[in-house]
Amino acid sequence: MNITVIGTGYVGLVSGTCFAEFGYRVTCVDVDIAKIETLQTGGVPIYEPGLDLMIKRNTQEGRLHFSADLVSSIAHSDLIFLAVGTPTDPQTGKANLTYIKQAAVDIAQNVKGHQYVVIKSTVPVGTAKTIEVLMAQTNPHATFEVISNPEFLREGAAIEDFMRPDRVVVGCHTTKAKTIMGKLYRPLTLLNIPVFYTSNPSAELIKYAANAFLATKIAFINEIGDLSEVCGADIQDIAQGIGMDHRIGPKFLQTSPGYGGSCFPKDTLALRETAEDFNSPVTIVDAVIKANDRRKAHMADRIIQACGGDVKGKRIAILGLTFKPNTDDMRDSVSLDVIPTLEKAGAKIHAYDPKGMEEAQKLLPHVSYASSVYECMDGADALVILTEWNIFRGLDWNVVKQKLKASLIIDLRNIYHPQEMADMGFAYHSLGRPGVRPDLQMVATKGVVV
Ligand code: UDX
Ligand code: UDX
Repeated sequence: MNITVIGTGYVGLVSGTCFAEFGYRVTCVDVDIAKIETLQTGGVPIYEPGLDLMIKRNTQEGRLHFSADLVSSIAHSDLIFLAVGTPTDPQTGKANLTYIKQAAVDIAQNVKGHQYVVIKSTVPVGTAKTIEVLMAQTNPHATFEVISNPEFLREGAAIEDFMRPDRVVVGCHTTKAKTIMGKLYRPLTLLNIPVFYTSNPSAELIKYAANAFLATKIAFINEIGDLSEVCGADIQDIAQGIGMDHRIGPKFLQTSPGYGGSCFPKDTLALRETAEDFNSPVTIVDAVIKANDRRKAHMADRIIQACGGDVKGKRIAILGLTFKPNTDDMRDSVSLDVIPTLEKAGAKIHAYDPKGMEEAQKLLPHVSYASSVYECMDGADALVILTEWNIFRGLDWNVVKQKLKASLIIDLRNIYHPQEMADMGFAYHSLGRPGVRPDLQMVATKGVVV
């Protein structure tokens, strides 16, 4: 099977590479010529664990190619995937469909016969239909069928999510389209992974509903965390206790400084806009968006309070800048809310992130970037953990104590235990656990499964 993937971002590059890994011949195309040149010369423009080796293997074995030339790439493609970005339009909150429409027109102008076009990008309900009509109008001499095949790839675990998904969703309206998609995903159905066929609008809405539901779980646990804090409960135990109920499930119940990234914020906003357009409001999703925005905005205040109400002239060490671990992606990261507010309040920020600092330097130019975890905390008045990278999970506390000016830790990912930190002599603040507000401190006991 010959496949073209248009857009070599986090989704397109992973998808194209994984299709090549299945044995198909894949060309990844992008309008960004510098990106294509990087890929053609063996570089990888993003950090995604395992992706570099998989790209190398598949290019060496002749299945994976990179090109800026859309016309020749699509000439003999059985399937053309659209994986260009659909960012939030800042004016309207809707998904910006400019890139996907442009790519569709470019394809339509350059194909003959019948062509299947598969939308991987996250697009509002009705987009597949709009694109199909647009392509037919652009080239009345060819015929087009647009298939919806949303992605469910978590950055940092994208290859695993592609190769072992819970399900694959396909929206289409002919048996032929179903057959070709069945053939494409045969390597997964052989592993008993379900491919769920539905209509285009349902596939489009499944993607938004899935992300909005996961965002709801996070916003929910975060609010329950706030409540836990003031009533003496422990949010880690609450999450475990409710997660053991199979109807609820244990995943996406980790309390946090708020969800970020390229999908949840964008997709919840776009879903709200779609619902408004159809005059069928999604009030729960609206509440989730507002709760998450409030939470992110409030995190700097928590840090300031933990520092005694004033950070003027204080040096604050921040571990973790990306929106989650195992990625270099800074899009909608909580660090972009927290750091400017702390800077405005007069703090001097020193930061370290294993993969995000190159991108962070463009967005947070006043921060001092450290070359190691321990250098970052040298002489700091407080240490803040913002992203739960593995290398922050096993800190050497004797070294930390020597480095810090004050033994103050603010752990916004709850990767340490309050009692253990207190035993080592740290003033330790985390989320949703007793001890966070000293005035309301109660006896902390850890939940135990026996
Ligand atoms: C993707 C999806 O497209 C988005 O809808 C989904 O919700 C999240 O994942 P992502 O891969 O993260 O987006 O986007 P990005 O990293 O911005 O990559 C998009 C790529 O498409 C870029 O490399 C860009 O240069 C390319 N592009 C954009 C084109 O090739 N053609 C265009 O017309 C526009
Ligand atoms: C998400 C979807 O999970 C994935 O299926 C796809 O649709 C793209 O969008 P991604 O944004 O890459 O993936 O990462 P994810 O692991 O979902 O985390 C998103 C945000 O939620 C991060 O900021 C993370 O820190 C936060 N999160 C996640 C929590 O706060 N608590 C949790 O329990 C899980």
